[in-house]
Amino acid sequence: MASYRTLDDIEVMGRRVLVRLDLNVPMKNGLVTDSTRIERQAPTVRELSDKGARVILLSHFERPGGKVVPEMSLKPVAPALAGVLGRPVAFAGDCIGPEAETAVAKLKDGDVLLLENTRFHKGEEKNDPEFAKALAALGDIYVNDAFSAAHRAHASTEGLAHLLPSAAGRSMEAELSHLTKALENPERPLMAVVGGAKISTKITLLENLVAKVDVLVIGGAMANTFLAAEGRAIGKSLAEKDQFDTARRIMAKAQSAGATILLPGDVVVAREFKAGAASRIVGINDVDEDELILDVGPRTIQAFGRQLDRMKTLVWNGPFGAFEMPPFDRGTTAAAKAVAERTREGKLLSVAGGGDTVAALAQAGVVDEFSYVSTAGGAFLEWLEGRTLPGVAALKR
Ligand code: 3PG
Ligand code: MG
Repeated sequence: MASYRTLDDIEVMGRRVLVRLDLNVPMKNGLVTDSTRIERQAPTVRELSDKGARVILLSHFERPGGKVVPEMSLKPVAPALAGVLGRPVAFAGDCIGPEAETAVAKLKDGDVLLLENTRFHKGEEKNDPEFAKALAALGDIYVNDAFSAAHRAHASTEGLAHLLPSAAGRSMEAELSHLTKALENPERPLMAVVGGAKISTKITLLENLVAKVDVLVIGGAMANTFLAAEGRAIGKSLAEKDQFDTARRIMAKAQSAGATILLPGDVVVAREFKAGAASRIVGINDVDEDELILDVGPRTIQAFGRQLDRMKTLVWNGPFGAFEMPPFDRGTTAAAKAVAERTREGKLLSVAGGGDTVAALAQAGVVDEFSYVSTAGGAFLEWLEGRTLPGVAALKR
């Protein structure tokens, strides 16, 4: 049994249910440009509405910093949400006080109401008890479906859970169950792929993973720092000279934990950092002084595939190369397809997350073929770091 309540454990008919969503979605000229998050969270709203709840939605949008910033209103998200839900969504121009109260009082069973950006009030990010109480006054039950905001200890993500009977929504439930299977209770062997530009932003994450995984695959520009720390010539490649000790410490930690670290054995190099730049594939010891490493080579992908064949579980964050600049997307795409294939064959549980990662997997066309792809950025990273997420902890019964 999960350590938190879900929608299966609460009676919602005729009740006012405050649902924390993460509607911090990409928007341009007042229109939602990517509705993935909305689609993921819609089932919770639909289910509650179908069960006769009066559904009151809370979310932040961007970072207005505790004051009203009209361009950061959630109002344009209401029609996008209504479109996905296939039912009307009312909107109130404040998330507490008379305007919110009037809108809530008008709700009939099954109705859905979206309240204005919680971050228009200073009390939200401060997790101010008075602000949390004002939110709580609007509902009888609290449901949190915003895993991607669960690393924030804010009034609507954390405080509310202490004031009302609470439960996880369906998308929160799915995130937690997949992340638990991937990292807390994995079937072994377990592989983690960590890519991206900088070690410095992922030190805690690497140190946590190296103690847990059987194989740690390092890609992206951060692999350059590891290679350089081993004394290899990496030409003009992006690397963090002040992180060589960190890289060595992580490699030593891997050795004592019995984890294998997989670094590129061959790479794709170019003289310019731009899409379509003339490139060549070289062994890792043959990078020229004026060359930049922009991707992993085919032998590295083969080695990755051989390791992958032994794995039961995989966690992925970060691309292998400069995937946004073809042809330097090939390594990431080939690796992603290898993971997708083994997942499809039922040999592997694969979980990926983080902003760049989702974009890279979408580009490779495999998002739906992984076991689970999280839409969370910061929250997914903090989970990989082994940190307790306040929004999740507060749901524990
Ligand atoms: C996100 O988009 O990652 C979440 O909505 C959290 O947003 P924040 O980083 O502004 O807290
Ligand atoms: Mg963010």
